[in-house]
Amino acid sequence: MPNKSSPVRYTALAQAFHWVIAALIVTQFALAWTADDLPLGLHKLALLARHKSFGMTVLMLAILRLLWRFANPPPQLPPGMTPLERNLARATHVAFYVLLFAMPLTGWMMSSAKNYSVSWFGLFTWPNLIGQSDAAFALLKSTHDYLSYALLAIVILHVIAALKHHFWNKDDVLVRMLPFTKSEKRP
Ligand code: HEM
Ligand code: HEM
Repeated sequence: MPNKSSPVRYTALAQAFHWVIAALIVTQFALAWTADDLPLGLHKLALLARHKSFGMTVLMLAILRLLWRFANPPPQLPPGMTPLERNLARATHVAFYVLLFAMPLTGWMMSSAKNYSVSWFGLFTWPNLIGQSDAAFALLKSTHDYLSYALLAIVILHVIAALKHHFWNKDDVLVRMLPFTKSEKRP
């Protein structure tokens, strides 16, 4: 049940983390899928280099976001939700946090296994996480691919849920995550 001390909305910083990371995730899929269709060459390597830089940015932001989340609990879910819906919402959010770490880490380890350096926008180079190994590369590449499908499925579920809350349940779940909006105080 909501209590008096629980916040009504996500804070501005929580909203900023959410929308910047969401935009980066969409960019990651666009870059990877475009690169996937290209023959090996400079254009493909440039897109993958950008994919790696944005991916490492997601990792850094995910660390900061999780630290912020521990110190700032999110608003309570609306009282009308069934236990199944609550559990599904929580499971989705936990799965997102796991994937926000697992995607960059498998990508970083995959590149390390090939001994391809991971640069951050040409400013510096991340150290290799593991030694060179073709077997590890193959395993990490398929893990990165499968996890990306899991992430995509959860994003689709998450967006449908957000739209259902807004247009069907007509509660404030979407609005409280949107900047430049206001939420009614709950009794
Ligand atoms: C949130 C972060 C990330 C997301 C959502 C993501 C997503 C993806 C997706 C969707 C693909 C295409 C998979 C396919 O072919 O079906 C891909 C490929 C790839 N990713 Fe990531 N990725 C992320 C982070 C990283 C990082 C940090 C690195 C490396 C440092 C990386 C390296 C790669 C590479 C090298 C490929 C191409 C693999 C190949 O087909 O040879 N990714 N990624
Ligand atoms: C594309 C990548 C996305 C990722 C990785 C993502 C991730 C997350 C995570 C982890 C949370 C939980 C926040 C917390 O309590 O700490 C969350 C909440 C939320 N997201 Fe997303 N999200 C994405 C896209 C979207 C989109 C496109 C929408 C809108 C259509 C959306 C709407 C929401 C809403 C309304 C909440 C608040 C849910 C609540 O109050 O319990 N998200 N998101």
